[in-house]
Order: sequence, then C-alpha cells, then structure tokens
Amino acid sequence: MFESITPAPLDPVLGLKDIIRQDNRENKINLGIGVYKDISKNTPILNCVKQAESILIKTETTKNYLNIEGSQNLIEKTKKLIFRNKNVQHSDIASVQTPGGTAALKITADFLIQNTKINRIWISDPSWPNHEKIFFNSGFKIFKYPYFNKDKNTLDFFGMKKCLKNVGKNEAVLFHGCCHNPTGIDLTHDQWIEFAKISQKKRWIPIFDYAYQGFSHGLKEDIIGIEIFSKFIQEFIVCTSYSKNFSIYNERVGTCNIVTKNKKTADTIFSQLKSAIRSNYSNPPAHGGLIVNLILSDNDLFNLWNNELNSMRMRIILMRKLFVKTLQKIGCKKDFSFILKQHGMFSFIGLDYADVLKLRKKFGIYTIDSGRLNFAAITESNILFICKAINTIL
Ligand code: LMR
Repeated sequence: MFESITPAPLDPVLGLKDIIRQDNRENKINLGIGVYKDISKNTPILNCVKQAESILIKTETTKNYLNIEGSQNLIEKTKKLIFRNKNVQHSDIASVQTPGGTAALKITADFLIQNTKINRIWISDPSWPNHEKIFFNSGFKIFKYPYFNKDKNTLDFFGMKKCLKNVGKNEAVLFHGCCHNPTGIDLTHDQWIEFAKISQKKRWIPIFDYAYQGFSHGLKEDIIGIEIFSKFIQEFIVCTSYSKNFSIYNERVGTCNIVTKNKKTADTIFSQLKSAIRSNYSNPPAHGGLIVNLILSDNDLFNLWNNELNSMRMRIILMRKLFVKTLQKIGCKKDFSFILKQHGMFSFIGLDYADVLKLRKKFGIYTIDSGRLNFAAITESNILFICKAINTIL
C-alpha cells in the first residue's frame, strides 16, 4: 500500500532547518526562516509575555477545551486592534481564533470553497510559498499577479494594476497587509486607494494576510490597507498572526475575520467557520491565545508590549542600515540603498539560486532558495562576516 509513495519536497521555508542541521560548522548562520533575533542571537520571550504567563499560572483553573471558535475575549480584542475606524461595525465581522496565521488562511480557503462561488485566487508574484499550497489544497485555482520589479527593486505597480483590473467577481486577491513576504515592499497610501477602487469596481474580494502588524511603522500605521479598503468595500477578509509581533511562534495564535454587510450574515458565516474548524483541528490551543488576550486587556501589559514591539522594529531597521553601511565600507560596488525603503524581516538582495548555494557551501550562511534574506536574524556580531561573504559572491 505504502511502498510506491514518493517523498514530499522539503518545505521551502521550514525545510531549511533540516538542511542546516546537516552542517556541522559552528558559525553557520540561518537567515532563512522568518524569526526575530536579538543582539545575543536569541529569539526572546518578551517581558510582557513572561508576565502574562506568570499571571496565567496563578489564575488558570482548567485545561478544558476552548470553544470551536476559540476565546471570545481574544476575538473581540483583535477586532479592536485591527478594525479601528467606524466603517466596519464589529458585530458585522465573523471572527474566530486560529492556530497561527496559517490556519486562519486555511479556514478562509475552506470556507470560501464550501460556501461561495469564489474558487480562483490571485497571489503576488513572488509570495510566501505556503499561500499557494494552502489555497490549492482547498481546491482553489491559483493565479499570480506581478508585484516585484527585479531590476529596480521596487513594486511593479503598473503590472499589478493592469492585472488586477482584469480580475472579476468570484475571484479573490491576496494582499500582504504590511511587510510583504518576501520583498519587504509595501503599498503606499495612494496605491492602496487605487486597488481598493479597482476591487470596488470589479467586485473581487481582497484577503489580507496580516502577519507583521507593528513591524513596518507601528500598530496603528500598519493597518492602513484595511482602513482604506473598508472605505470602499463592505466585504473582505483579514487573517492575522500573533507569532511575530508577540514573538510567540510556537504557541500558534492567529485569527480569521470575515467582514460582512450585516450582523445576520456575520452570524451565519460564523457558524460556517466553526464547521470548517471542527473538521480541521476541532478547536484551537489555548495557552498562546490566553497570553495575548491578557496583554491586550491590561493597559500596563499592553504598553509594555507596544514598547517591546517597537524595539524589535527599530532593531530590524538598524540591521538594514548596518547592512547597507557595512557593504559600502568594505567597498562593495552595488548600491543596496533600496533595502532601507523596504520593511519588515525580508528583502531580496539579488541572490540567484547559484549564489544561495555558494553562500551555504563556502560560508555556512543560509537563505531560502529564492534568495530571500531575513534581516531580523542578522546581529552586530555576524554582520561583517555576512557582508564580506555577500560581497565575494555578488
Ligand atoms: C517565513 O516566511 O519564514 C515565516 O512566515 C515562517 C513560515 O511559517 O514560513
């Protein structure tokens, strides 16, 4: 029965860990997987998280199942965090807690396939590799819209616009809310408006993947895309992840939010989301969601979180600056100043697959196959080594 099965390819992002494990060099550097590192090369547990956990240890009285939809408190707190203007009534949103942003996307995909005519999705080219897999596995036909101008290291705005103007009703378009993964190129205020208007006219439904809120400009600033779209259209979807901005990667906390025209529709959709969840993972794990809920519910913990989040963002910006400066200092001819205009963990720096392999073999520096580099994993102590290696390769 099983002998004819062929091995699955390594996951382009998480599979890198398996490759790195085989490298015995002590100074190997993982710039692949999107995880933040502090000055000591640790992925820290935030102080706000530690404090919330110690409260939980003292006050938690049960490990009973959560409801299928997760914690209602967390859901309400999340709505307050991401739907801030009056255009969206919170009662018109069907929201559920999910195990990370990945499950939020999976529940979205299953929900759309099972309950609507929407079975075609447009994903940016390039995008997070899992986007395509998740939607394909739920039954979607996948299409790509141009996003990245490789020669100029900028958004291919005209290509994107031309493409999305031809997308129609019953089709979905996936946007990265901020800190586009893998290019780090975000839409400007005016560009969001242009796409919101096209969405309104052509009646395609936007799905926002919000995995990096707070990593681009700040908690409030980073919801600009949702705020603008909500002025033009009444139906859209927001999938959030708390993995990065709370640094609670392994606790798996996210939410799926379907914005509808009225409470009655939201209630119906809520029941369908629960049905999709029940047959996927039954109900979400509790611990991470309880931590996030506590932090979002308490002024002091919230302020502490916001400060710690700001520090992570500032550190990533610092690493981007240091990267450009160090390459200049060691005499690199290529202009990397575009890195400073991009946001979040990732950017492309012009590595092709052969360069990626050279970096791994000669220097023990690991990026994912596409050449995406994680600036949040660079530290002061390895930046010179990394820049020298890149200067040798390019
Ligand atoms: C990444 O892109 O590196 C992160 O989002 C981690 C993941 O799950 O792929």
